[in-house]
Parts: sequence; structure tokens; C-alpha cells
Amino acid sequence: MNDSTLRLGLLGFGEAGQRFAEDFVKAGLKNVIAYSRSAAAAGPNDPLRVHAAAIGVELAATPKELCKRANLIIAVTPGKAALPALRSVKRYLGKDHIYVDANTVSVKIIERAATLVEGRTTFVDAAIMSAVPLDGIKAPMLASGPEAARFRDLVAPYGMKVQIVGDKAGAASAMKLIRSVCMKGLAGLLLESLEAAQRCGVRDAVAADMAAFIDDRPFQQVIKRFVCGTAVHASRRIHEMDDALELLKSVGAPTRMTRATHAMFKELIAMGMPERYNGREPDSIEPVLTAIIEARK
Ligand SMILES: NC(=O)c1ccc[n+]([C@@H]2O[C@H](COP(=O)([O-])OP(=O)(O)OC[C@H]3O[C@@H](n4cnc5c(N)ncnc54)[C@H](OP(=O)(O)O)[C@@H]3O)[C@@H](O)[C@H]2O)c1
Repeated sequence: MNDSTLRLGLLGFGEAGQRFAEDFVKAGLKNVIAYSRSAAAAGPNDPLRVHAAAIGVELAATPKELCKRANLIIAVTPGKAALPALRSVKRYLGKDHIYVDANTVSVKIIERAATLVEGRTTFVDAAIMSAVPLDGIKAPMLASGPEAARFRDLVAPYGMKVQIVGDKAGAASAMKLIRSVCMKGLAGLLLESLEAAQRCGVRDAVAADMAAFIDDRPFQQVIKRFVCGTAVHASRRIHEMDDALELLKSVGAPTRMTRATHAMFKELIAMGMPERYNGREPDSIEPVLTAIIEARK
């Protein structure tokens, strides 16, 4: 991209695309254009076209027009449309473009997308890390790829916060998915725990107690305590999970997540983790994770 003037093109004009477009315009960017199939087909009085005009965004009639008029393309289509959407613009992309795939997709798909345009244009893997309707352009973004920093520097003046997490396409998407293992799992644990609490008539007290534990210390400390403590005290804690399972069953509550926790303790015991640390928690999570990875070999 030799022309340093940002001309933004949104490929996909749904929830994320519309809000990003609106916020870029509000932040002072004059050249914002968007393409989606329904937007392109929208007549003059179609609500989508009326909305685009109201927020100062032009609609491209074709993928070709989008690429002709924009030099930074941010793709915000459903994950399953990531490759078809890229294929629809591929032939119009060149050295003057940066193509940012901000769709939520698997690492495999991102790698395929990067390969598809290798040597033709600059490809950036990006992951949107919060809800766009809530945070708009300020939704934190992760980005990876050899030239991800150019994307970050282009959008930073308008308030988009991009954190670079690697020089290979796939790293940003991997990080988002890995984080989801915890965030979505945590939601499952909360549901299981609080359903049992409600069945026992102690829902609010349990929720308040858990909130106080988390609120009282920086989350980095919680991570260390949870990771190190789990390995060191697995033998003791598995008995607590036996009792918890018995309780859940007795009140008719589901046990799926708790059975997984029980199985995890069992595995750590089989790996010899409690003996390895002999009741003393290491100072960081690194040796624990390394020992677990070694034990799996
Ligand atoms: N919304 C959020 O808060 C949020 C947060 C994090 C991540 N994300 C990710 O961002 C992406 C977009 O999310 P969204 O909520 O904006 O989805 P959405 O509201 O469903 O909008 C998707 C847009 O993509 C367009 N589209 C679909 N196939 C296309 C194609 N082949 N070529 C061009 N446009 C195409 C759709 O219009 P047509 O079907 O008419 O073409 C629509 O405008 C998803 O991958 C999502 O996981 C969104």
C-alpha cells in the first residue's frame, strides 16, 4: 500500500460492519465504503441504504468497486463466508491493498485465506475481542501477520485498538479461540454451579461469595493460584469433587462440568503432580504447564 491515505472498505455490512463504518466516519474518516450482497441489491428506500446514507457510508455496487475505491479492506462476514467473500474480491486485490480478515474462523481457514492471496496482497489475521454493538471501533482487536503493524498504524488515529500478537496469520485467531476455551468454559461452570445453588436456595450468597473472591485480587493472581494450586493439591481436591458430585446428584443438578473437573484432577494425580511439588506451589505457571506437557509425551 503505497498511498498512505486510508480509504476504508468494509466487506460485510452487518452488525459489526455497520458500527465500524459509523464510528470511523464519526472519528473523521471521509472515505468509507461498504459492500454486502444485500446492501448492493438495496433500492433507494431500502432501510439498509437509508441507514448507510445517514451514517455517511457509501455502498459499493460490486466487490470490484469496493476494491477499486478502498485500500484497506476489513472483512466482517459470518465465519462460514470468510473464504467465499475473499474469493469474491481476490482478483481485484493488489499490492496497494491490505486485506484484514476479522471474521471469527478456525486457524485452518485463516491459513487457507492467507495462502489464497499470498504474493498478491497483504493479508492480516484479526480477531475482534468484544461485542461491537457495545464497544464499536474501540472493541479490542488482536492482529497477526507479517504486516499487521501497518494495519494497526493505519487505524490507530481513528481509535481502533489493535494489539499485535504474532507475525504469522493464524496467531490472532488461535488466541481468540484459546481464550474462548476459558471464557465459554467459565460460563458453563457458573451455570452448573449456580443452578445447583438455586436448587439449594443459596444462589445469591454463592454468587456474592464467588464475586468477592475474584474482586479481592488481580486476576493474574487468580490465574497463578488456580493453575499452580490445582496441580499441587489435586489429591486433596479430588475428594472435594467427589462430595460435590454427590451433592449435585442429590439435588437433581447437572454434573457435566464437575465430572470434567474430577477427570482433570484424576489425570494430574496420574501424572504425579502432587508428589512432584510436595505441597509447595511454584512461583509461576510456566513450570506446571511444562511438566504437564512433558507428562503427556
Ligand atoms: N458483531 C459482533 O459484535 C462481533 C464480535 C466479534 C466478532 N464478530 C465477527 O465479525 C463477523 C461479522 O459479524 P456480524 O455480527 O457483523 O455478522 P452479521 O450481522 O451477520 O453480518 C454479516 C455481513 O456479512 C455479509 N456477507 C455474508 N456473506 C458475504 C459475502 N460472501 N460477501 C460479502 N458480504 C457477505 C452479510 O450480508 P449479505 O449476506 O447480504 O451479503 C452481512 O452484511 C463474524 O465473523 C463475527 O463472528 C462480530
